[in-house]
Amino acid sequence: MALGATLSRSGFPSCKPSAPAGSYFCCKPPSKATAAAASVGNGVLAINRSSWRCMSTATASREAMAGRRQEKKGVVDKEEEWRSYLAPERLQVLKEMEPWVEEHVLPLLKSVEASWQPSDLLPDPAALGSDGFHEACIELRERAAGVPDELLVCLVANMVTEEALPTYPSGLNRLEVVRDATGADTTAWARWIRGWSAEENRHGDVLNRYMHLSGRFDMREVERTVQRLIRDGITVHAPASPFHGFVYVAFQERATAIAHGNTARLVGARGAGDAALARICGTVAADEKRHEAAYTRIMGRLFEADPDAAVRAMAYMMRRRIDMPTAFINDGRHSGGDFYARFIAIAEKAGTYTLSDYRGILQHLIRQWGVEELTAGLSGEGRRAQDYLGALPNKIQRMEEKAHDRAVKAGKKPTPIPISWIFDRPISVVLT
Ligand SMILES: [Fe+2]
Ligand SMILES: [Fe+2]
Repeated sequence: MALGATLSRSGFPSCKPSAPAGSYFCCKPPSKATAAAASVGNGVLAINRSSWRCMSTATASREAMAGRRQEKKGVVDKEEEWRSYLAPERLQVLKEMEPWVEEHVLPLLKSVEASWQPSDLLPDPAALGSDGFHEACIELRERAAGVPDELLVCLVANMVTEEALPTYPSGLNRLEVVRDATGADTTAWARWIRGWSAEENRHGDVLNRYMHLSGRFDMREVERTVQRLIRDGITVHAPASPFHGFVYVAFQERATAIAHGNTARLVGARGAGDAALARICGTVAADEKRHEAAYTRIMGRLFEADPDAAVRAMAYMMRRRIDMPTAFINDGRHSGGDFYARFIAIAEKAGTYTLSDYRGILQHLIRQWGVEELTAGLSGEGRRAQDYLGALPNKIQRMEEKAHDRAVKAGKKPTPIPISWIFDRPISVVLT
């Protein structure tokens, strides 16, 4: 859930965008399917098919060979880069951190007794009786009737992201040291993973039940989306490295807190007028803030213990962009990559999660982890990572401005995108 459609850095080495004119053969633009696969497969940047141009045969083959060599080397370098984090001496810090996790991270979970439950936020037939329940449902439906379509679509995206929960603890259980090897480990790390998953489980439940009662969604289509998402999994960079993994989760928890928080504001009393839905989204957002605090704290500790490894891991992840975990999201009417790009445009228009939010999260984490103030213990690569991260927010801002200027210049008309979740009613957005 982030940057819009821009050019990929690689993926099609025999073609390049905007090559100069001359004696050319036309290299085929990547097929829709390939472009989409590259977009989500890399988890990097989406490919705009129309930007691909032609180039000379000789140049093409020279560049193709150089590109393949470079690409092969790049892949090896990247593998070596993140795999070096699995060395026992580098993982030692995580082992030593366990008492600290016990003291500083586990208290951020709430006990079951102190936790809200979905039934606290929704009409309860047992408490209200049959007439009272019926009345409360009618009220819920009346309030929901005022929520505009684009917010309904964003709400579904928020909900299915939560409902894809089985994917996320699987991700944490791939991390060295941290993983819950038996499913009932007693380490502080393992108890955190299970406690966090248990808190997360309520998020999808409450949103799902609200949506079911509201009558505004084609629930069968939404449910099919959830099934597809869990089946398709997630693209993870550096899958076993806790350094990289915690950068990703810290970013994502803040992103989900912002997305649920923005949705709460937009659907609430001062927006679409559904105060009950705003309360649900706000309650979920508050949980996400606690989770964000935990992962940000863990990563902060890693920055203190091994600043070089931490800053390089952060740069590694940001170079590949932090996409929403459910980048394979699909309403069943579009190809996966196409739908993701369209959803990003809808979320940007609706204001639930925007490119500015993405930039804001990055700036926040840079401040939280004192990235720009790091001095001691940085290697040359670490200093390059620090410089890259320091310059990235401005770079993203320039991309935002350029994308806006391009859209205005091109005078693009909005494209209607029919979405199955809302009975194929279209949402019109300008696709860049
Ligand atoms: Fe959540
Ligand atoms: Fe969360």
